[in-house]
This record gives sequence, structure tokens and C-alpha cells, in this order.
Amino acid sequence: MAREGSVKYLNTAKSDKNDEFYTILSDIEKELRHYKQHFKNKTVLCNCDDPKVSNFFVYFSHNFEQLGLKKLITTCYKNCDADLFSKHTAENGIYLEYNGDKNNNRVPDPDEIGIHKLKGDGDFRSEECIKLLKQVDIVVTNPPFSLFREYVAQLVRYDKKFLIVATWNAITYKEIFKLIKANKLWIGVNSNRNFSGFIVPKHYSLHGTEARVDEHGNRIVSTNTTCWFTNLDIKKRHEDLILYKTYNAREFPKYDNYNAIEVSKTADIPMHYKGVMGVPVTFLDKYNPEQFEIIGSNRGIDQDPNGIYGRGSFLNGKETFKRLFIRNKKAT
Ligand SMILES: C[S@@+](CC[C@H](N)C(=O)[O-])C[C@H]1O[C@@H](n2cnc3c(N)ncnc32)[C@H](O)[C@@H]1O
Repeated sequence: MAREGSVKYLNTAKSDKNDEFYTILSDIEKELRHYKQHFKNKTVLCNCDDPKVSNFFVYFSHNFEQLGLKKLITTCYKNCDADLFSKHTAENGIYLEYNGDKNNNRVPDPDEIGIHKLKGDGDFRSEECIKLLKQVDIVVTNPPFSLFREYVAQLVRYDKKFLIVATWNAITYKEIFKLIKANKLWIGVNSNRNFSGFIVPKHYSLHGTEARVDEHGNRIVSTNTTCWFTNLDIKKRHEDLILYKTYNAREFPKYDNYNAIEVSKTADIPMHYKGVMGVPVTFLDKYNPEQFEIIGSNRGIDQDPNGIYGRGSFLNGKETFKRLFIRNKKAT
């Protein structure tokens, strides 16, 4: 039931354009610890982040020296006051620049942070925000769900490295799946139940068994369908999934309408099978492109004129769940 309630939150975020899910610092720390080598001498942009309240700003400003950052830039959308859940009605946005600790107290002091007014509202798509984007090496944030496709497209257009919070559902968006298939975007280290939740405003009702109020009074919901999307290399992406099952036609039936076998659990991928296999989307969490090739999906996202990719896959007349079609490159 908790899961149902939490899925509803994400769907609400999408349909109502209500994008106020704020990331918890411990979730940022838990992920970022796997990427330290990428940040040395780099300029980081958090471009959907009110710096007064964003935990992304907190993380990067407090770890500036440890990561060896060159510069941190944070832009704030339509919001110049300190209220985390202000209605974002201010006309102008601001941006902050932080170049590191100058007085050796190891914390970002107000007089070390440059505050600049933006001419517009701080929309990540605006000319002035794109100008900032062009200056930076890596973008890290949790962007608005309602603008997710546009957000990723912009990162790709400007050829940026990124680490962003996403929803699992976005994997099957046509534009996103193309990037996954082309190995231009992949799943980060922590996903789903590894996220402790998101801080939400007062008008969100806290139902679901995992919804809670923390010791600071923050209202927190768990989505269980959240993950990180990145194009920064991570160790996990080079680890082979250990396969132990042997193929047999009874356990791994062929689809009615596609020349591939159904493998309903990623852990059960048969080790020597050379043909195409349909696996759950959660396979992506274990995906090593040196071991597997992603060929398509059964969800209308990657039409292939020679196959049935993009159409539902059926077993004995019954449509299966969402499946990715993969091939084991190392099968002998
Ligand atoms: C999901 S929240 C996450 C906030 C923050 N990044 C965090 O993780 O705590 C998305 C944020 O994007 C902001 N936002 C909405 N539309 C935006 C836009 N067009 N350009 C920039 N930011 C936007 C919202 O005000 C909201 O603060």
C-alpha cells in the first residue's frame, strides 16, 4: 500500500506540474561518494536549486575543498526569499557563485558567496541560464519532474556531464530510452528503496506507511520509484552480473510474437544463452555495457522495422510486463 501511495505522489507531481520534491542531504551524500574522482578542478552547476535551501548547494559548498572543486554555481527559480516552499511568484531569479573557503574556517560564509540577480526568472531554459550552463563541467540537481524531458534534452544539447534525480518511469520515455540504449545515460548507484524520501510542502497529504515527519519537522514522502541518471562513469557499470542459471525452454519460454525468451527475473538470466532475452526494467540497475547489449523494449519506445520492438510482448496470449530486450555479448 505504501508503494501505491507513493507512486501517486509522483504521478501527481507530473500531472499537476507540482515539482516540489526536495532532496534529502543524506541521499545526496550517499550517491555523490561514488563520483569523487570526477569533480577535481571542475565547475558544478545546480540549476534548479534555491541556494538558501537546496541540499545540493549545502553538499557542494561544504565539500568544496574535499572534492577539489573549481567553482560552484547555483541558480534559483522565481524565488528570492528563504522559504523552502514559497509559491515561486517572485519575478526574478538569482544565482550564486562560490569559489571556496577564503578564511580557512572550512565553511561557506555569506561574504564568500557571490549573489547575483538574474534578469529573468531563473528558468533553466532561459538565455542567461544557458550562458551559465555553457561555463560549467558538471550539472547536479533534482530537476522539476514536469519538465524532465526538456531538462535532459538541454543537457545533451550542450554536451554536459550530469548527475540528476529522476523517476524510474522516465526510463521508458522515448527520448530517454534512446540515450540509455546508446550508452549516453545510465542509472546511478542508488535507486528505489535506497532513497530515504523527499521533503514535501504542507499541502501534500502524508499518506502511505512510509510518509513521516523528521526531527526537524520536515514532511517526508518515499516514492520507491526514484533513481539517479548520469553520464559519469561509475564502478558498478563495469561489474559483470554473475550468471548461474542454465537455459531450458520450459523455464524460459519464447514470446508468442517475438523471437526472444522471457526472463522474468534479472538474476535468472541464463548464462550461455546467445539470443535475445526480455528482462524487467530493473535490469538497468545491473547493466554493464561490456557484458550486455540493449536492443529494444516492448513499450512503444524503440520501433524497429524488422521486429516487434515497441509492441507488447505476449506469452500464451497474455501480455507481459514492461520488458527490455537484451543480448549477452559474452555468451559462448
Ligand atoms: C523537484 S524540485 C527539487 C529542488 C532541488 N533541486 C532539490 O533537489 O531539493 C525542482 C525545483 O525546480 C524548480 N523549477 C521549476 N521549474 C523550473 C524551471 N523552469 N527552471 C528552473 N527551475 C525550475 C522548482 O521551483 C523546484 O524548486
